[in-house]
Amino acid sequence: MAVDQKTMEMLHAEPDIAEGLDLSWMDQTGERGMSAHPGRRGLTLEEINKGPYGVAPATTEDQTMGPRGAARRAGVPRVGYKLPKKSDIWSENAAMLYEEAVQRQWSSATDIPWEELRPLPDDVERAYSQFCTFLTEVEFIAGDTPSQWLPQISNDHYEVKMFLASQIMDEARHLDVFRKRALANGGGLMQSSGNAGLRVIIEAKDFTEMSTIMHVQGEGLVQSIFRMGEFIATNDAEKRIFRLSAQDESRHVAFGVMHLKYILETEPERREEIHSYLEKAEPVIVGGGANGTAPVAGGAPVFGASLGILFGHSLGSEDEGARLAMAAFRRQINEYMHRLEVAGMGERRYRLPAHIQAVLDPPKN
Ligand SMILES: [Fe+2]
Ligand SMILES: [Fe+2]
Repeated sequence: MAVDQKTMEMLHAEPDIAEGLDLSWMDQTGERGMSAHPGRRGLTLEEINKGPYGVAPATTEDQTMGPRGAARRAGVPRVGYKLPKKSDIWSENAAMLYEEAVQRQWSSATDIPWEELRPLPDDVERAYSQFCTFLTEVEFIAGDTPSQWLPQISNDHYEVKMFLASQIMDEARHLDVFRKRALANGGGLMQSSGNAGLRVIIEAKDFTEMSTIMHVQGEGLVQSIFRMGEFIATNDAEKRIFRLSAQDESRHVAFGVMHLKYILETEPERREEIHSYLEKAEPVIVGGGANGTAPVAGGAPVFGASLGILFGHSLGSEDEGARLAMAAFRRQINEYMHRLEVAGMGERRYRLPAHIQAVLDPPKN
């Protein structure tokens, strides 16, 4: 059957794809015409945090999923962020720490020279296993806790959300690297701490309470131990574990110190309240290993005892190991006090529990 001319024209006609389309959305924009260029460390958040995109509001009015700086629209369901105030969660270094975290990620599978592991005397391997069991347990809390706070923080304060997301990834890697170390050399995991003291972190009801207890106190104490990695490591694989973990941990501690500083500067009336959180959390810092010779702040006596054995192995003497464990405890407490001083809470030294005050160096000025 022949196709008539009209049908042919209809078949070949170009449809007008714009006909009937509403393109008014193209006019609904945040500020346009911005430009950003890579700085010394690439195109970081600092480079794009300009104009209205760079202003984290003191109190966010927005309860939707809208990104900061985007054009708002009517009728959008609320997500229900619970922390509208910037001061509740802010830390001036959050964006920088996030960028650093992304740039310094590492893999426990391929960045640790596992082939350097060597058989150890049975008591030393058991001490390593106990040490790693406790750290694995602690790292779970350090990942679980920030994850509870993420959905409460507004997208207007996205830098803090992204930092906390990076911390959760860091902690996943820490718990996996210590688990791998425990299992890779024949020791396996040992007894869990049973330490209810750690619950004080995950049960915190206020962000500043959580951050001060977890970032400044808890992670600070762990960081001091990681920095002594050369005395704990028996080979290059373990040295690298401590070096890389300490690098991550320093970001978490830095966030907490800067958050505390921010809140003390912007809401000085909260100072006593923060003392009350520390009063609740500091008794968790225990001195005294199971044998009474290895006092180390870690929240579990077996942790201190296992650390004393590892120090002793490195130094070639049990007595020297116990002495270094005592020195480690002093170092932990003094570094904890130093961080509080940097944040602006130097007066805390006069309110510490007696067993902690006992190992504190005199104030520098
Ligand atoms: Fe960690
Ligand atoms: Fe951490």
